[in-house]
Amino acid sequence: MAKIAFLKETQTGEHRCSVLPINVKNYVRIGAEVIIESGLGSHIHISDEEYAEAGAKIITSRDELLASADIVASLHKLEQTQLDSVKEGTLLISFLDPFNEGEHIFKLRDKKLSSISVEMLPRISRCQKMDALSSQASLAGYVMVSRGMANLQSVLPMMMTPAGTLKPTKVFVIGAGVAGLQAIATAKRMGAQVTAFDTRPVVAEQVHSLGAKFLDIDLGKTSQTGQGYATALTPEQMAIQQREQAKCIVDSDLVITTAQLFGRKPPVLIKQDVIAEMKPGSVIVDMAAENGGNVEGSVAGEVVSVSGVTIVGTGRWANDVAKDASQMYASNLYNLISEFWDQESKQLPIDLEDEVIGACVITHQGEIVNEMIRQHLSQEVAS
Ligand code: NAI
Repeated sequence: MAKIAFLKETQTGEHRCSVLPINVKNYVRIGAEVIIESGLGSHIHISDEEYAEAGAKIITSRDELLASADIVASLHKLEQTQLDSVKEGTLLISFLDPFNEGEHIFKLRDKKLSSISVEMLPRISRCQKMDALSSQASLAGYVMVSRGMANLQSVLPMMMTPAGTLKPTKVFVIGAGVAGLQAIATAKRMGAQVTAFDTRPVVAEQVHSLGAKFLDIDLGKTSQTGQGYATALTPEQMAIQQREQAKCIVDSDLVITTAQLFGRKPPVLIKQDVIAEMKPGSVIVDMAAENGGNVEGSVAGEVVSVSGVTIVGTGRWANDVAKDASQMYASNLYNLISEFWDQESKQLPIDLEDEVIGACVITHQGEIVNEMIRQHLSQEVAS
């Protein structure tokens, strides 16, 4: 019977967790033994007793927990120093950021630890229930609108009052993937006048279906990967985008940028010259601030003012709604583990031939088994 350990998140300010008591009951039902680090749910007001009642064993010593587990599940990856406490062959499941965390991946390989990077789950129907990238991005879209609102000095909806009429706030969302679409929907619900843009033309219909306008920019041929991710624009296309969207940015009160490129640095979409043209008091929320930024001048983890424009780069968006984010992440993990659970052996076998497991397992039996990550990291080492 496999022992699944759930770790308390230790990053400063992180309030989310990777398992709820309801999930513990479900793990026990499929025959797993669940061990939980004491205090895991404290930020979202779930006590150790509630986990124990659901069937988990509570352990205070992290080293003891790591040493006895067959599977270690968390939201953030383990600290490198803690990998020494994990026994060979253990499976670690978390966000791993494998394109940028080469040193960590090499250590996982060298210590013969297996690892699943939840970001690498394929974007196919079968995986939707396990898709942690989407569940957290969707909540991020919601939170970005609320942080934008908190920094604006005006209301979002039109208000007709005896004291006069307030115009609706103009919101421009750049990047209409999972987070962007949720931001559009949230801003619409709040009564804002919303416009959006994305380099993938297929998105226009989704934007319209939310009642928002799609900004038409003729970029020539753009494409997306088989998984639906945008491919990078050429420098010429990027210049066209920046020029054509400038008027809409300057005209907006709140701009939310959510543009990402899978496995690459996010594109810079808004430069200082355009920010200088914006109305003082306008707000930009840069979802990508922690990974390099979509906006020139945004600062990771901070709210800054540039030419009278407030730029919100605080990041950790889903953490603002930690209770719901934990519920969604915990359910993504349970769906992943139970999908591949072997009822007879009560273990989680790693079948690299499976299209899902083959895509999200990064290291196994002393090798980097994910082809895309192996190639990416070997190029990095060579350069
Ligand atoms: P993402 O986080 O990689 O990127 C966010 C958005 O930024 C994307 O829509 C992308 O087209 C856009 N973008 C990139 N460069 C841009 C630029 N220069 N200007 C404006 N926008 C730019 O993408 P996300 O949100 O993870 O979704 C990627 C795709 O995966 C979408 O098509 C989504 O529908 C699909 N998807 C499919 C799922 C499934 O079938 N299971 C689950 C989740 C997403």
